[in-house]
Amino acid sequence: MRAMTTTTWNDLPTHPTRWWGLPVLRAMRRDYLAVIAAQRTLGDLVAQRILAERGVDVFDPELVRAIMVDHADALVRWARGPEVFADLMGQSVLVTEGATWQRQRRMLMPAFTPKRVAGYAALMTDAAVEGLARVTPGEVAMDALYSHLTMDVISRTLFSTPIGDDTAAAADAVQVLSETALAEMFWPVTLPDWLPLPGKAAKRRASRLLHGLLASHIDARRASGDDKPDLLGRLMGLRDEATGEALSPQEVYDQCMVSFQAGHETSATALLWWSWLLAAHPEAQARAREEVDAVLAGRVPTADDAAALPYLGATLKEAMRLFPPVAAFMTRRLTREITVAGVRLPARALVRVTPWLLHRDPRWWPEAEAFRPERFLPGAPHEIPRGAYIPFGLGPRVCLGQHFAVLEMTLIAALVLQRFTLSPVGSTPPKPRMAVTLRPEGGMRLRLARRGA
Ligand code: HEM
Repeated sequence: MRAMTTTTWNDLPTHPTRWWGLPVLRAMRRDYLAVIAAQRTLGDLVAQRILAERGVDVFDPELVRAIMVDHADALVRWARGPEVFADLMGQSVLVTEGATWQRQRRMLMPAFTPKRVAGYAALMTDAAVEGLARVTPGEVAMDALYSHLTMDVISRTLFSTPIGDDTAAAADAVQVLSETALAEMFWPVTLPDWLPLPGKAAKRRASRLLHGLLASHIDARRASGDDKPDLLGRLMGLRDEATGEALSPQEVYDQCMVSFQAGHETSATALLWWSWLLAAHPEAQARAREEVDAVLAGRVPTADDAAALPYLGATLKEAMRLFPPVAAFMTRRLTREITVAGVRLPARALVRVTPWLLHRDPRWWPEAEAFRPERFLPGAPHEIPRGAYIPFGLGPRVCLGQHFAVLEMTLIAALVLQRFTLSPVGSTPPKPRMAVTLRPEGGMRLRLARRGA
């Protein structure tokens, strides 16, 4: 960490701005990561003012931890992210703060422990085996494939029901909502959805469709009174240890919606970049496949197999280092003044943490731009500083679904390698673009050849 000689936000380095910083908002909408990368050139704690907002970007892992972990009680999630999703995210654990968040998080944790999540492995592999059986070898639109697979996984784990015919409409709805959310993120305020503005009608239609889809499953379960061991069954059965209280029906609905939304596009995005990296690095692909073949000998993997696939796991971790699905927007508002590295940051300031830049900083990552899964194997020569690798966030609001996601991705990745070899189409690498997650611009196509064919 660099020694800080400044003492207040006003003393931090900053780029000069015009028009109260409004052109920065436009630039962010065009290329958010480029704006934050430009901030990075000025130091580890860098200020930015936009209108009345005082922002600070943090680029040093130790400072990131100092803020997100040590000062977690002085932070609330930046309201803009949840606001643009408010209609969908309701009062779920992703959105709430304070005592309500604490209660929800405490109640939900037992449904997402590694042991609990292992119980969903067969539902995950059922979805993946069926989905991969439908793939026609040749040039494949990987984004559509993984969106379908991960949506089916979350549908089966939530409701014990394949997503089936609803996939295309649900995938379109999610796409519309991501695009409008990104556009609205950089407006100073969210205008009501009933206004006759461009994009609002599509947003309303998409929200209605997802609402209908989830509500129909939940209503059917309540009506049948069935007690199934899926995620919905668990959510309905949760009781607060302290008070014995259950989640309200609205809370059950909101948590389902969050699991549906937060739980599939992120994993799909990680698998997408992983596939491209393995296609572009045939030697790593061959090594991962040898490991899969040696451990599984052609059978479908179980949760227990994941630990026996360390190299495969390392390729997934390295893919999430180079292309973290949540590459940015880990933004918090300070509820009171805090002091970090001798700098007093004022109450209401916005703190921005950007995994994209932490994950590619050559100070912590030798050959930072290169795909080197070995860095995540036991005994790797370079220790990774705490706070430098945060694909699932850090501190008390770390991803609730991380064990779920790691298991799901490992199982799907193993099944893909068992069945196909992957190679690039053309020689131009896909260009990452910050949507709500970090997506390849224009989608991603790869060549899939059936093994042994
Ligand atoms: C590769 C897949 C995934 C990635 C990279 C990912 C990443 C993240 C990150 C970075 C955060 C914290 C954001 C912040 O600090 O502002 C988060 C929060 C969250 N994630 Fe995930 N996630 C993934 C999969 C999942 C899955 C599968 C689920 C549920 C089934 C899930 C549910 C949640 C929830 C509920 C939160 C909010 C937790 C809270 O605020 O207390 N995520 N995720």
